[in-house]
Amino acid sequence: MTHLTDTEKQQIISLFHAGVSHRGIARQMQRNPSTISRFLRTQKDLSQSDDEDIITNTIQIRIQQYTNIFNLLLKKDIGMSHINNYTALFSSYLQTDIKPDKQYSMLYTMLHYLNPQTEDIIADIGCWTGYFTHALAKYSKKILAIDNTFKQIEWAKKIGKHLWVPNVDYILSDMRQYNYPPAWLDSICAPFVINYSKSTKELKLLFKNFYDSLKKWGKLVGLIDAPHDIVHNNKEYWSIKTIPSGKMNDGALLELQLFNGNNLLCTLYSCFYRKQTIEKTLLDLWYSSVERKKPLISPEGINEYPSEYWLNYVNNCDIAYFVAVK
Ligand SMILES: C[S@@+](CC[C@H](N)C(=O)[O-])C[C@H]1O[C@@H](n2cnc3c(N)ncnc32)[C@H](O)[C@@H]1O
Repeated sequence: MTHLTDTEKQQIISLFHAGVSHRGIARQMQRNPSTISRFLRTQKDLSQSDDEDIITNTIQIRIQQYTNIFNLLLKKDIGMSHINNYTALFSSYLQTDIKPDKQYSMLYTMLHYLNPQTEDIIADIGCWTGYFTHALAKYSKKILAIDNTFKQIEWAKKIGKHLWVPNVDYILSDMRQYNYPPAWLDSICAPFVINYSKSTKELKLLFKNFYDSLKKWGKLVGLIDAPHDIVHNNKEYWSIKTIPSGKMNDGALLELQLFNGNNLLCTLYSCFYRKQTIEKTLLDLWYSSVERKKPLISPEGINEYPSEYWLNYVNNCDIAYFVAVK
């Protein structure tokens, strides 16, 4: 660490807070990425900021990420003409917003498959602090942002206010119990929340509620945890997913460890479902089509990381996207 000057250290911390990846910082500072990562790991207080710091940093990161995505949309590069205890986990999960795949693939991919239109009414289920909600709100008429954790809904509101997206209704509710207006929604965005169904029965009920709430031809775009094995080590992409029972059965407990480099950010638990089970459940409920989709990488992500990094990501992906049309 001795070879970083105090000024350089300050610059690194500022860039980190602005959401620049370790690699991006290294490039800008003309330093080795491992030097940057090692230094950031020593800065324990980076993960202990108070609420004000958290909101400022989050907004800076989101504005940066949204600006990049929106610039692309304007250029129509992605065909957008017509995108536990979560209170306790709040700060640590927030840090996963800068996970490389979340930054450069998940937002881009979800927006691509949702393809929001100016007249669309969309529900974002398990909306968290509005990561997908606020991006979608820019392109649609109304968003129902649903989450069952009070803190997330409050923060989603705060962040939405700063990002100037007034067309969002924030709803504190369990996704399984919310009274979805019938045949009203154009799309449902469900990233990393379907796996909170505790059984195939609950999964079916959830998909049935979604079905009833969608207009004819409305679509459900889901993003689920889909490890290939009982231990899917994807640490290069900041995650290790484990099924402690050792059996890849539907409803089995799934442990998710999310990292930044070697730092464990948080451990989450949800339920594993086989992709075939998800698809069959949807088709049994009369969805007219169900398609698995590949993750897409934003042009910015392609600039930020070498092509082998993304090729390996896509080939060894521990998540799965699907689009189900009513
Ligand atoms: C893993 S986070 C995903 C957040 C966000 N969709 C994203 O991808 O960044 C799961 C979110 O779903 C919420 N959640 C979990 N179970 C839920 C339920 N039964 N009903 C509504 N929200 C739920 C949690 O509070 C949390 O904000």
